Amino acid sequence: MSVVEIVDHPLIQHKISLMRNRHTGTREFRDLVSEVAMLLCYEATRDLPTEEVEVETPICLARTKVLAGRKLALVPILRAGLGMVDGMLNLIPAAKVGHIGLYRNEETLQPVEYYCKLPKDIAEREVIVLDPMLATGGSASDAITQIKKHGARHIKFIGLIAAPEGLKTLHANHPDVDIYVGALDEKLNDNGYIVPGLGDAGDRIFGTK
Ligand code: URA
Repeated sequence: MSVVEIVDHPLIQHKISLMRNRHTGTREFRDLVSEVAMLLCYEATRDLPTEEVEVETPICLARTKVLAGRKLALVPILRAGLGMVDGMLNLIPAAKVGHIGLYRNEETLQPVEYYCKLPKDIAEREVIVLDPMLATGGSASDAITQIKKHGARHIKFIGLIAAPEGLKTLHANHPDVDIYVGALDEKLNDNGYIVPGLGDAGDRIFGTK
């Protein structure tokens, strides 16, 4: 049974509210994306396996736990997913980072992968796909389909804000993928923006508006 979790921790709610504000500038917005990604990473890695080791503390010998060495890979969906990478790496610095970029062919409506570079051993890694806005769920679904074609078997998705449509579509297309988001918003508008949302995440991260 996969996980679909709205991680509505007070710190996440607070930081997402600051991000929603249209007057929040690029630098602050970028920092907030990183911070929320880090908080979501904490929750999404709760099931990582641990093993016991012996540690000599200043007081005595102790048996304590460390990560059991499950290999991780982050795959931001270009371009907005890039804004989440540094925050994630703060907590899991040894993770490898792949990248994927797709667009839809307007005639065939099929996804076209214009860039994809993944770690060679992607099949052995726990893969975390990153995209701040889960709007229609189309690009997240397409990206995960492509990443599976490259061999990945264990995949999670982390987003900052989801629309109900996006959550439903991604879960229906990839029922094996655990989904973690910081907020579930009301709906999509006619232009495909999440309402109330925060506008175009990529433009706000990179200051391109
Ligand atoms: N992508 C964004 O950046 N914002 C939205 O609201 C929807 C998709």
